[in-house]
Amino acid sequence: MSRVIGPGAALGVLGSGQLGRMFALAARRMGYRVHTFSPEEDSPTGQVADLEVTAPYEDLDALRTFAGGVEVVTFEFENVPSEAVDAIEALAPVRPSGVALHTAQERAREKTFLADRGIPTAPFARAATLDELWEAVARVGTPAVIKTAAFGYDGKGQHKVTTPADIEHIWTAIGHQEAVVEKFISLQAEISVVAARGATGEVAEYIPFENRHRNHILDVTTVPAAIPPAIAAQAAEITREILRGLQYVGVLCVEFFLSTDGELLVNEIAPRPHNSGHLTIDAALTSQFEQQVRAICGLPLGSPEIPRPAAMANLLGELWVDGEPNWAAACRFTDVKLHLYGKTDPRPGRKMGHLTAVARTVEEAQDRVLAARDALLI
Ligand SMILES: Nc1ncnc2c1ncn2[C@@H]1O[C@H](COP(=O)(O)OP(=O)(O)O)[C@@H](O)[C@H]1O
Ligand SMILES: [Mg+2]
Repeated sequence: MSRVIGPGAALGVLGSGQLGRMFALAARRMGYRVHTFSPEEDSPTGQVADLEVTAPYEDLDALRTFAGGVEVVTFEFENVPSEAVDAIEALAPVRPSGVALHTAQERAREKTFLADRGIPTAPFARAATLDELWEAVARVGTPAVIKTAAFGYDGKGQHKVTTPADIEHIWTAIGHQEAVVEKFISLQAEISVVAARGATGEVAEYIPFENRHRNHILDVTTVPAAIPPAIAAQAAEITREILRGLQYVGVLCVEFFLSTDGELLVNEIAPRPHNSGHLTIDAALTSQFEQQVRAICGLPLGSPEIPRPAAMANLLGELWVDGEPNWAAACRFTDVKLHLYGKTDPRPGRKMGHLTAVARTVEEAQDRVLAARDALLI
């Protein structure tokens, strides 16, 4: 039985971006203290935390001091070096565990974990050399997607291969890194299931979210997803199996492809709250961040119910090209909630914030967030 970490305790977050910020806001509302550790200063998380520690992830002494000051440590992005996690695990519980992080950190390991459990993914093959890349593309067939095995996010490190003639320049473009070749799937929809598993094995998942991407970056999320109930049930069951298989404690997200043939495939696992789950802050009885606090502190999980249709639109750095967006115009949409992450350096593709609306129908919720987003450029 794990001990309950009650309000008043200090919780540690590795990483200091927007996910850490929203976690910190949820934790502080519940009366916890939050300490964040990252190489950045005046970070999105640091701005709302009780303590911001600025040091490189390689500084094991700084990590040990940080771990000594908190009751439990979680992380907000998965590319923290495993040595950092090991150093902390000796001093404070890390939830989700270093083992779960290790599995989800690298695409080939993640896909092998899924394949071992008979969970369907896009056909894939791994490659560590140019020769292996040729073989892998031949085995998977074209069109395919070549993805770097580690450190990919928002489509970075991904290249589509339509003919084998592309292989050599892609190998150069990815810097000769280990890669995974995946069959290109013709998509009917992309959905995600965000779920929490508590210290006692209790699981609570949200109904699936439907995600639309632009340039490989999430653009709009809506709920409920326009998918058959049997697919929703299958996605929930697969997510539960992944949580059990990883002996997971915390919040994770499983991204799925629904192919035009009606096949449900796991795309990837994010071992943390997810961009598609941001609408839970305004639309669910318990947000994904409160759920993360509850799970890592050994508290009972909250209700994942989402009573009404909702939509979320991301605000990317592009909106800043001509200076500060028109916040007053967007705030005239009084039923749309504005979330900004406190970042000071807008760049194309960078997630700066999001908008959420709850409405009677999915279409209405989506129209509202899109209209409010358009108003930012008036
Ligand atoms: N095999 C594939 N077939 C079709 N589309 C894909 C495939 N792999 C990736 N994509 C598209 O690119 C997006 C980002 O890819 P993903 O593997 O999730 O990487 P990231 O780690 O960058 O999120 C996906 O959500 C999907 O829209
Ligand atoms: Mg993804």
